[in-house]
Amino acid sequence: MRKPFIAGNWKMNLERKTALALVHQLRDHLANRDTVDVAVFPPFVYVEEIARTLKGTKIAVGAQNCCDEPHGAFTGEISAAQLVDVGATHVLLGHSERRHVYGESDALVNRKVHAALDKGLAVILCVGETLEQRQGKQTEKVIGAQLTLGLQGISARDLLKITIAYEPVWAIGTGKVATSKQAGEAHAYLRGVLGGLFTESLADQTRIQYGGSVKPDNVKELLAVRDVDGALVGGASLKAETFLPLLGGR
Ligand code: PGA
Repeated sequence: MRKPFIAGNWKMNLERKTALALVHQLRDHLANRDTVDVAVFPPFVYVEEIARTLKGTKIAVGAQNCCDEPHGAFTGEISAAQLVDVGATHVLLGHSERRHVYGESDALVNRKVHAALDKGLAVILCVGETLEQRQGKQTEKVIGAQLTLGLQGISARDLLKITIAYEPVWAIGTGKVATSKQAGEAHAYLRGVLGGLFTESLADQTRIQYGGSVKPDNVKELLAVRDVDGALVGGASLKAETFLPLLGGR
């Protein structure tokens, strides 16, 4: 049985004070509960302080991106080793905003996955189709390729450190959530691809989160879908009132 994993992707939101207030509430809320894995992904500059604040709790802290290179002349970039150095244990890679706003290719995402795993970071690898691709019946082709290329050269042992996030681009930040049927089909398809790339047993152990307009009023229905093992949450992760209700487990 895969344990649900709920992650909050803050994107470029919150500031020191609001971020700390949020994680304090999160820490209190989750104090004696262990039914769900939880992680938060603050902006780079707050990772260290948030990681320190959450030390000793079961709430993991990650970054929203990292460089594909280990060090050197890459102005503005942050390496996987630097993230580990400040207490991050996770990193989000291939988020649709990185792919579509900043033009990250599957090859770059794949290099980042290797760079992150090399330094011991757990990875959430995001895949998802645009509305146009869905309407053109390209969903499986697109997410299958993103998954296959993103995981190129990854060993079976490394797969155990990877969570997949299925995030249809048309559902991110739009309030338009995928139906249970759409999520179920995409997740089952992705698990099938993982089975082909690795083994069925490994595919079975890999968690696949759904992301895109997850809110307190739709989370139960989504998590009830077979093959949906948690959620990657943007907007609703920014406030305790909307994030805490998502952590109730199945
Ligand atoms: P959203 O974002 O929950 O605000 O739609 C999800 C994400 O981008 O990870």
